[in-house]
Amino acid sequence: MKVIVCENYGEMSKEGAKIIAELLKEKPDCILGLATGSTPVGMYEELVKLNKAGEITFKNVSSFNLDEYYPLSPEHDQSYRYFMNKNLFDHIDIDKAKTRVPNGLAKDPAAEGESYDKAIDEAGGIDLQVLGVGQNGHIGFNEPEEELYVGTHLTSLTESTIEANSRFFASKSDVPTKAITIDMGSIMKAKRIIVLASGKNKHYVVSKMLDDRITTSVPATLLKLHGDVILICDKAAYEG
Ligand code: F6R
Repeated sequence: MKVIVCENYGEMSKEGAKIIAELLKEKPDCILGLATGSTPVGMYEELVKLNKAGEITFKNVSSFNLDEYYPLSPEHDQSYRYFMNKNLFDHIDIDKAKTRVPNGLAKDPAAEGESYDKAIDEAGGIDLQVLGVGQNGHIGFNEPEEELYVGTHLTSLTESTIEANSRFFASKSDVPTKAITIDMGSIMKAKRIIVLASGKNKHYVVSKMLDDRITTSVPATLLKLHGDVILICDKAAYEG
């Protein structure tokens, strides 16, 4: 795993945007795997700036997001579809019809999972997957567990994830307890992965990502099995 340690959040965001911008120039019709959460917001701002300055275009890009709360309408202001529109898609020249986020209102989540995986395969697979990481080591919403699921699936969020994400909702009881998430396999199939981590509270998981073990109790450690992962973190996350 390649590691880039940045001075602060702003630098981390610029590093991430630089890697995406390079890919867009090399492969204008690339398939991006995208994440939500507070970590990538600064990187999305950088991408918006580069797009507005005419340095990059998303015209031919397709994207797949990692996950979506369930059940939650795409119009809900805490849905991940809403987040992506607000933080990125509404401000760049991407064709929104080519952006996909799991359907948080799917009547049959298993069928939604199958169709999501099929769509990723048919698009030719993800060229670059952007990841944030939970304090407990989750990626997407693959939470620490003895056994992990195969395929995009409906999952229950752990108490610590609900607690961490309650900062975005009026109260903890408003946080959905379930989500549809892509699985570790789909993440591992991405040609390249960048993981962003910022702040002291990510130090534990960053240190687990950099030791010589893998464990499903910290799903982010499985990324060590991938041949092209770049961890971009700030000093606070790296040093603790
Ligand atoms: C978001 C996602 C999650 C977040 C993680 C970190 O789509 O899948 O794994 O990346 O919960 O969230 P933040 O960045 O808010 O600390």
